Amino acid sequence: MPLFTEKFLTELIERNDIVDVVSQYVQLNRRSGSNLFGLCPFHSEKTPSFSVSRSKQIYHCFGCGKGGGVINFVMEIENVGFVDAVAILAKRAGMEMPEREDDPESRKRERILALNKDAARFFYECLNAPGGSRGREYMAGRKISRKTATDFGLGFAPDTWDSLRNAMREKGYTDYELLDAGLVKKGRNGGVYDAFRNRLMFPVIDVRGNVVAFSGRILGDGEPKYLNSPETAVFSKSRNLFALNRAKRSKAGYFLLAEGNVDVVSLHQAGFDSAVASLGTSLTEQQAQLLSHYKNEVIIAYDNDEAGSKATSRAIGMFEKLDVKVRVIRLDGAQKDPDEYIQTRGAEAFQKLIEGSENRMEYKLRSIREKYDLSRPEEKAGFAEEAVRLVARLPLQAERQVYGAVIAERIGVRADAVQSDVESQRKRLLRSTEKKENRELIGQTAKQRKYENPASAIAEEGIVRLLYLEPSLIHTEGLPPPGAFTDRRLAKLYEHLTGKLRRGELVSTATMGELLDSGEMSLLVQIIEEPENLSESAKTLADYLTAMKKAAPKTIKDILEEKQNQEKGKQ
Ligand code: UTP
Ligand code: MN
Repeated sequence: MPLFTEKFLTELIERNDIVDVVSQYVQLNRRSGSNLFGLCPFHSEKTPSFSVSRSKQIYHCFGCGKGGGVINFVMEIENVGFVDAVAILAKRAGMEMPEREDDPESRKRERILALNKDAARFFYECLNAPGGSRGREYMAGRKISRKTATDFGLGFAPDTWDSLRNAMREKGYTDYELLDAGLVKKGRNGGVYDAFRNRLMFPVIDVRGNVVAFSGRILGDGEPKYLNSPETAVFSKSRNLFALNRAKRSKAGYFLLAEGNVDVVSLHQAGFDSAVASLGTSLTEQQAQLLSHYKNEVIIAYDNDEAGSKATSRAIGMFEKLDVKVRVIRLDGAQKDPDEYIQTRGAEAFQKLIEGSENRMEYKLRSIREKYDLSRPEEKAGFAEEAVRLVARLPLQAERQVYGAVIAERIGVRADAVQSDVESQRKRLLRSTEKKENRELIGQTAKQRKYENPASAIAEEGIVRLLYLEPSLIHTEGLPPPGAFTDRRLAKLYEHLTGKLRRGELVSTATMGELLDSGEMSLLVQIIEEPENLSESAKTLADYLTAMKKAAPKTIKDILEEKQNQEKGKQ
């Protein structure tokens, strides 16, 4: 069942012109035809390829391919779901959100969020009250200023068993709610006691500004060093990053990814306001993905130890998959983490580290080099072999030459010798992946969307485009069933589209948005953005249908024929 009525959604998008909404986030200053252009907020670029069409009420980036209607834009840029995006736009337009069934799960979430907020306020007040002197002393020892503490909403959990519980009970929260939020634990006698005691409290705030969890550091030495909120209805450790709520607003083109909460606080205090930390777990896929929503470059500043370098290698792999650019900071000297580095050497020195940070290739080459003792000939050979294999994977010859030369220099041989090794290694590599590469190449000519069967997929795209732009075509005879589409995602778009049109419903990015994920929505927008001659749409559609039939593999030909026979039978 749809969450919102067609009427509500239609009014919502009418009252939130996409150009106005996008302009709150993106400067649109170039005009080309009926489209406005600006720098894409979803990937980093120097020339504008992000377009907004007032007539079609859609946005589309020609660089990264993202696209959708105004609701999708808010979903992407605020990193929220469909319902929350609708709520943001409703508020903006002064519209009342429709009453929804009181969902017990969402009520519970709201209560926990309210409780967390009150708890954060309580901890914050404790830090500044007379009883919070130990917390303040600890902060002073770590050179965290009062201003920074306020910016981050840091607090102090008193060294008692029931201060928080009593304060929250007074505000009307029950023990059950406190347990659900992970703020108290069950005692042996059946009662509950405060989970966080005598700790410096770091609230974890999500991208929407909700306090979703706490991380409490012990004052001084002892175990465990940090105590974190458990997984709750509002908190999943693997999907949140400490300080992302602040860092996402930073003007810097990159995130600084550190290990510790204290590192992050210290970095922000020193002016590096794009620092985040992954809450102790080594970085998860979801966290990497979340970061990639906001910026397409990450500078890793993990601790200067074995665990830190292992975590760095893992993180590099994850960001590579997401096409996020990676650089790695190397803390020289005895400093164990960014916090210590800034405390002993200062912010300017850290800025130099950022500027001198290695890209992923330099980092990987150095990691390989460190495994070998290059004063010994046989180890030199081992290094060369491993390094050549790495460099051979680079797609650009210029890059291969640059890093080939680096290898040559390390082992003291002529650059062209290494170069020819790199190239023959590359040939071997290509041969073994020839089939795969071929497939990808064909996909790329099919307008960069990697289809298995480009000939059919282009026709499938055309059918989707025509139906979207010319809804009356739904009455055309002989439209194929979704199962006849060779591409799974196009089939899904087609199925929803025809379903809506047959039920006589309105088709827009808003009404389709509920049914599609962001990749599917982007695909839809890419398709409808492509030029199409609508003056003879019925004939064009017929051409696409023929092209699709011709390109169809055997199994699909069968599906199509069966459908034709059925239709003949009906006549
Ligand atoms: P660190 O031990 O490096 O913490 O752990 P830190 O924040 O840099 O602390 P300082 O500088 O020694 O005071 C990195 C992160 O791992 C998580 C925390 O999120 C911490 O910030 N962690 C660490 C835990 O969750 N539990 C622990 O017991 C220790
Ligand atoms: Mn640390």
